[in-house]
Amino acid sequence: MLGSAQRVAVVTGSSQGIGLAIAQSFVNNGWRVAFVSLGLEQIRSSFLTEVELHQVLLYEMDVTETDKIGPCLDDIIGQWGQVDVLVNNAGIRTVTSNSDMKIEEWNRVLSVNLGSTFFFSQAVAPIMKKRGWGRIINMSSFAGQFGPVNSSAAYAASKAGQLALTKVFARELAPYGITVNAISPASVRTPEMDTIAPADMEKMVATIPLGRVGEAEEVAAMVMYLAADSTGFVTGATLDINGGRLMR
Ligand SMILES: NC(=O)c1ccc[n+]([C@@H]2O[C@H](COP(=O)([O-])OP(=O)(O)OC[C@H]3O[C@@H](n4cnc5c(N)ncnc54)[C@H](O)[C@@H]3O)[C@@H](O)[C@H]2O)c1
Repeated sequence: MLGSAQRVAVVTGSSQGIGLAIAQSFVNNGWRVAFVSLGLEQIRSSFLTEVELHQVLLYEMDVTETDKIGPCLDDIIGQWGQVDVLVNNAGIRTVTSNSDMKIEEWNRVLSVNLGSTFFFSQAVAPIMKKRGWGRIINMSSFAGQFGPVNSSAAYAASKAGQLALTKVFARELAPYGITVNAISPASVRTPEMDTIAPADMEKMVATIPLGRVGEAEEVAAMVMYLAADSTGFVTGATLDINGGRLMR
């Protein structure tokens, strides 16, 4: 158990969807939270109360700009002195077919989803090592385990790559009291889902044994589980949250 009363989480891709639910959940549990994301303008006014604003730092940042990661973490350390948890959640999903895939899109998807996971983990590792405690949680996907369904090869490959990085960093950082795990969601409600036609939504739900889509708050609960002291013996693992679409 660490001495610090108020822990610090860094959540990438936290302006909406799963990342926002994760960041909000840390805030609700009394943590200090650094939002590192594009699209943060609306957060200040719409989601956080005055009290909560004292618990957060907002970094409007493209996670592929790797030269900004060090200064961002330095600023967090300067203000709060520590980083306890990193959630590599920022991601983009594309649906381009293999025959139409261009190098620009391939590089962008790999860079946002996989590159940022590597470079944020690389940058946060020495900070956590110094304290002898840390949690890195990578938001992968069902597509990285099962293969793409409604997503591009680049997306599936980037998500499978995150599962490999989870094991790479889990092994490397285990001697320092740092655990590294992946969460693998499928069919979790996000703003994008509101644009899907009801008939298509019905078809999608029919493929889910539990007969409904998941909620971002349910993924956030899994993150809180992995961030806890009590789960320090879980590392290198992939936790599925998919309504039963993949049972293994
Ligand atoms: N929703 C699902 O069913 C589902 C399923 C499997 C995996 N996931 C994964 O969960 C994560 C979150 O997905 P979501 O559904 O909430 O998506 P979303 O599109 O609703 O949110 C993505 C977040 O990442 C941010 N972001 C995107 N590109 C960025 C960049 N270059 N730099 C900084 N921030 C960036 C966006 O601003 C946003 O805050 C992603 O990694 C996604 O692959 C989601």
